[in-house]
Amino acid sequence: MDMALYAPGLGYYSAGATKLGADGDFTTAPEVSALFGACVARQCAQLLAEIPGAAILEVGAGTGRLARDVLLRLQSSGQLPARYSILEVSADLRARQRTALEQLPAPLRARVEWLSEPPARFDGVILANEVLDALPVRRFRWAPGRVEEYGVCVEADRFSWASRPADRLMSEHCERLSAESAWEAGYVSEYSPRMPVWAATVAAGLRSGAVLWFDYGLPRSQYYLPERHEGTLLCHFRHRTETDPFLFPGLQDITAWVDFTALAAAARDAGFDVAGFTTQTYFLAGLGIDEEMRELAGGDSARAARLAHEARTLMLPGEMGECFKAMAWVRGARGDLSGFRLRDLRHSL
Ligand SMILES: C[S@@+](CC[C@H](N)C(=O)[O-])C[C@H]1O[C@@H](n2cnc3c(N)ncnc32)[C@H](O)[C@@H]1O
Repeated sequence: MDMALYAPGLGYYSAGATKLGADGDFTTAPEVSALFGACVARQCAQLLAEIPGAAILEVGAGTGRLARDVLLRLQSSGQLPARYSILEVSADLRARQRTALEQLPAPLRARVEWLSEPPARFDGVILANEVLDALPVRRFRWAPGRVEEYGVCVEADRFSWASRPADRLMSEHCERLSAESAWEAGYVSEYSPRMPVWAATVAAGLRSGAVLWFDYGLPRSQYYLPERHEGTLLCHFRHRTETDPFLFPGLQDITAWVDFTALAAAARDAGFDVAGFTTQTYFLAGLGIDEEMRELAGGDSARAARLAHEARTLMLPGEMGECFKAMAWVRGARGDLSGFRLRDLRHSL
């Protein structure tokens, strides 16, 4: 998964595939509607008002759409951040972000910068939409006392799955997970060993402020339910969902759902409080998506109808509303964030 996504010049995020949007392979919430960025901007504004000189850092900024929408919305309310920094692993997407953000009015454009590593000291808000799901996972097949790791082999000139006995780290991790669920022998799933360290590294320099994580995923007790016995590893190619990661290596996105219990544990280990965990629906509702719809429609009924359609995509349970979650990590700032006021799901973590 690491090589298929990140190998220099060949990996999905390193090479030139279109990736996001109508001509790409998948669509994300910021690509669906400016309403997402407007609501995220409202959450940022609450934090920016509290922290003098605060900035925004976006990790994995895709086409730059969220950056654009957040900056435009914050400009209209007179609450621009000191800087809008972007940490992006893909040279191809960095180039697209530059092109997109060059179109912004000069006072906004001047605040945008690209970083090559997380800032050592930072006050403000860190945003990451659909980045955690792109971190490579380890896949396993469980049987009592005998865990196997899935790997990749070459058979008749094609990649395919191969398994071998799991190492001690994976075996112990799976035994812990299985003790909380009632798996039958042959249960297949995955976990992201890199995620806790990666998330902590991104957030390490944050002195005062919050990290807002958005992604599809579940609390651990639901992630590893017995009926989810084939795991959550999925691929996206031209807006089709595939389950075979060997189909178009380097040309299709490969993702796995996020274990939000692991992300909450990473917060505590890194010295943050988990200030909120909720679904995308309740996050957007808590931030006043209805007011943003009226604002963006500006009295134009055709635009209002389009925005209502986009809001349904963002919020309906069968669309993005329920499987996408928002989590806030907070340090040195107040934790009563509006996006989490309507439904608190932290008890499920
Ligand atoms: C699924 S896309 C989401 C893009 C954007 N956030 C959005 O919502 O439209 C994943 C993004 O994360 C970036 N990315 C993946 N791994 C990363 C890493 N380790 N560090 C920084 N960015 C990363 C990708 O290049 C891409 O911009």
